[in-house]
Amino acid sequence: MRTAHESRSAGGPLSRRYFLSLAAWAGVLTSGLAGLAQSLRFLQPTLTHTPSVFSVGSPGEYPIGSRRLIQTRRVLILRDAQGFRAMSAVCTHLGCTVTLVEWGFSCPCHGSKFDLTGVNFAGPAPRPLPAFRLYSSPEGELMVDTRQIVPRDQFFDPFA
Ligand code: FES
Repeated sequence: MRTAHESRSAGGPLSRRYFLSLAAWAGVLTSGLAGLAQSLRFLQPTLTHTPSVFSVGSPGEYPIGSRRLIQTRRVLILRDAQGFRAMSAVCTHLGCTVTLVEWGFSCPCHGSKFDLTGVNFAGPAPRPLPAFRLYSSPEGELMVDTRQIVPRDQFFDPFA
């Protein structure tokens, strides 16, 4: 009886054991390469290419007393008699998008609750929702700048 090595070197048919050994090594190599590829992907920064300054439309689109979630930007626009405010709609726990509820904002993921000013009062969220700077573009559009955090009691009045 010939060994697998003898079969190979003699140019004979592959033994079952040799074939299974090759298949096992191919499996190990394939899964190793897949793991390496995943690791390299994990090390790359996950940059989002969402612009940090953007228009949320005309101020006239927001009646006094309105609260609107701009889903695509994950930002909340609120207007009351004092003016406009913009807040992040990204839950400060693990980043889910909050939803509008009667008493403020609620996170559907783990139940954090934020009052109408964005202050967290229940659930695992560790911080309030940050408020962003608002300003008017030269064309009169309401602009949000998510790079600039402002006090949550700061209002912007585009009509002033
Ligand atoms: S992500 Fe909002 S409570 Fe966990």
